[in-house]
Amino acid sequence: MSKIVLAYSGGLDTTCIIPWLKENYKADVVAFCANLGESEDEKVLGKRALDAGASEFYFEDLREKFIDEYVMPALRVGAVYEDNYLLATALARPLIGKELVAVAHKTRADAVAHGCTGKGNDQVRFELAVSTLDNNLKVIAPVREWKFKSREEELKYVTSKGIRIEDKGGGKYSLDRNLWGISIECGELEDPWNEPPKESYVIVKPVDETPDKPARVLIEFKDARPVKLDGKKMSALDMITALNKLGGEHGVGRVDMVEDRVVGIKSREVYEAPAGTILFRALRALESLVLEKDQMHNQRKLAMEYARLVYEGKWFSPLRESIQGFCASSNRQLEGEVKMRLFKGNAVVTGRKSPFSLYAPELATYTEKDQFEHSSAKGFIELWGLPLKVWGKISKGK
Ligand code: ARG
Repeated sequence: MSKIVLAYSGGLDTTCIIPWLKENYKADVVAFCANLGESEDEKVLGKRALDAGASEFYFEDLREKFIDEYVMPALRVGAVYEDNYLLATALARPLIGKELVAVAHKTRADAVAHGCTGKGNDQVRFELAVSTLDNNLKVIAPVREWKFKSREEELKYVTSKGIRIEDKGGGKYSLDRNLWGISIECGELEDPWNEPPKESYVIVKPVDETPDKPARVLIEFKDARPVKLDGKKMSALDMITALNKLGGEHGVGRVDMVEDRVVGIKSREVYEAPAGTILFRALRALESLVLEKDQMHNQRKLAMEYARLVYEGKWFSPLRESIQGFCASSNRQLEGEVKMRLFKGNAVVTGRKSPFSLYAPELATYTEKDQFEHSSAKGFIELWGLPLKVWGKISKGK
């Protein structure tokens, strides 16, 4: 092996991986860092990677690509894993994997490396992405191989190699953050019975600190994409940034769940996704107005399957593409406006309208304007319930 491209985050683990790879694989290490909405500075990260012994440093601002090619399709499908998780981390990994492969090709590397542990989902997502896109690249996962058992041991190793790194302690929690959301694990959160402490909140305010007055937002969608916020045209990226701030301020978008990981274990996870929560609910409200019943019910079923694929690392798969194709077709007319109220942790839809609305007031009304054919209901119910009537007679309701 001569050159390895490492998915570098700038934290202690991936910084420690640089000298470790050089020592154990006798290879040059190229550090690759993707900006998906985290705040760290390119210069600081670059210096840290090179100081740790990387031969090259690549930094890519992938925010727009992430939103356009990963987040927006998932939003349009309505992807949510096990009822609650909007997949922020899971959607980011295939993109980072794809870019890792691109950097490997550019730098003529023969392997890629990541800093994931052996029991998480992210290793699966990275490695499936890499092996699907270029099966000739070798994947190295130092954290699964090395003997270090604590941050202190890692720090000691790094120092012994003459590298000086400031260990900020990494905090009590393990955080993964991008524009679509934040994943929070570890510390006292590992016990599913423990209420998440205030320090575990990152961008969402605890409800008892939120304003006593609600905020109201008006979101306009075109082709199932959010295009205007309160009448102002903006990119999806800007809208997500704005809604993360406003939603977070009102306590919207915290999720506390126990989820099933790919490797078979259940884990307690806390998520923050204010913009995701708001946009997800708004778009579902528009769907219920615009989509024909069978189409909508089937889209919801496919959304579950899509979420599972994404969660389990199968972003690069024919089924994921096919489901997106289905939704692109069913959502052609997903256009209109949704009003929402953000208050004390809730994001509630208060109104929706669309030029393609299938809501027929003359059929739905209970006033004298009603044009529904009431007399048809009798025959309809008779035939609708016929199989059950026959079954009821035989089984006597047992
Ligand atoms: N459980 C989430 C997922 O599998 C989040 C994992 C996030 N990783 C982290 N370092 N906190 O997508």
